[in-house]
Amino acid sequence: MNVGIDLIHFSTSDYYLGLDVFAEEKNIDVDKFYIGIGQEKMSIAPPDEDVVSLAAKAAAPILEQIDKDSITAILFATESGVDQSKSAGVFLHGLLNLSSRCRVVEFKHACYSGAAALQMATMMVRANPKEKVLVIAADIAKYDVDTSGEATQGCGAVAMLITESPRIIAIEPGSGYHTEDVMDFWRPNQRKTALVDGKYSTKVYLHSLKQAWQHFTEETGKTFSDINHFCYHIPFTKMAEKAHQTLAKVAGVKLTDEEFQAQTLPSQVYNRIVGNSYSASLFVGFCSLLDNLKENLSERRISFFSYGSGCVAEFFTGLMQPGYEKVLMTTSHTRQIEQREPLTYAQYLAFYHEVEDDVENIEFEVNNKGPYRLAGIRDHKRYYQAV
Ligand code: COA
Repeated sequence: MNVGIDLIHFSTSDYYLGLDVFAEEKNIDVDKFYIGIGQEKMSIAPPDEDVVSLAAKAAAPILEQIDKDSITAILFATESGVDQSKSAGVFLHGLLNLSSRCRVVEFKHACYSGAAALQMATMMVRANPKEKVLVIAADIAKYDVDTSGEATQGCGAVAMLITESPRIIAIEPGSGYHTEDVMDFWRPNQRKTALVDGKYSTKVYLHSLKQAWQHFTEETGKTFSDINHFCYHIPFTKMAEKAHQTLAKVAGVKLTDEEFQAQTLPSQVYNRIVGNSYSASLFVGFCSLLDNLKENLSERRISFFSYGSGCVAEFFTGLMQPGYEKVLMTTSHTRQIEQREPLTYAQYLAFYHEVEDDVENIEFEVNNKGPYRLAGIRDHKRYYQAV
């Protein structure tokens, strides 16, 4: 039985900060960002946008195409949770008015949790093909001002419907994984922004890739040449380039520049202008590949490498399904990205780093253009509304 992604759609916020504006403010050569880390823009969430409103924006176009009462579970992956106890998925469940005959839970392990949720969902459907699982990966990447991570912020959410006989990609059984207790990136409970040992995190990422790949090849017998396109966790696009160079070297494969670019660039187009979206970024990269590759991918094998600092990593593959192109939501993706408004550096600070949202009562000014927004917090309870 084939199980995998039947529909996929991603969302991002209505605003961005250009790294040209950022570079000018910090008096840094902009090529450090355009070339050195491979990023151009960061999507910035206003105070009335959080992972729940981003997730609802990602999921709504999927629900319009199916009987939404058929969804049996929501697995919500995030490291930007809105409550220490209640799952972000239950806020989403209420906002989208889903059936009460549905199980909902939040998944966390840094940027890895989206892949974990996807794998758990495929297992649920393999065990019971009647299950239709809505997987959400949603994050708002925030670092302190004037830290090395500040230029690698961003936000986004990806919604994926996991079913049997999927129309987009069948996830193949067998994967390689690696876990190691390290402190390369973390966010203690009291903090709104992450702490990171940036250079160390890039080393652990590459080490984890080698370990997960080794495990993957032992488990599946597949080799580098069995894979047609490679999707990586993309905290910034240069990281994916380094990952692919590393993987080719470990596999003993020499690629021409043309082959290297064909295997990696299409999956980086959106991430370069959206920025990091932690748990979602691997799947934003997959959407980017689907929407930007000019050739037909039917029956091609795609690999996915997920890395979550701390750290957990996984390497797995999927087979593209014939006719997948008929169900892509490319227009919605490009429209959202193109319609974003640019921010000045001061506006970015006001949206992102100066608003206290741990207050008891607040009504947020309307900046989020919808379709859903965080309206306010009353008596410590979050209230959402359709716009
Ligand atoms: N033109 C072209 N390239 C330039 C440049 C310029 N003017 N100035 C710098 N660069 C290059 C550097 O040579 C370096 O390239 P390299 O990585 O191939 O050596 C790159 O740009 C980054 O410069 P660096 O000085 O190392 O940047 P930094 O100290 O600001 O840190 C990160 C970069 C990635 C560590 C930082 O952005 C970070 O902490 N990010 C968050 C953590 C993260 O995303 N980790 C990834 C694993 S999840």
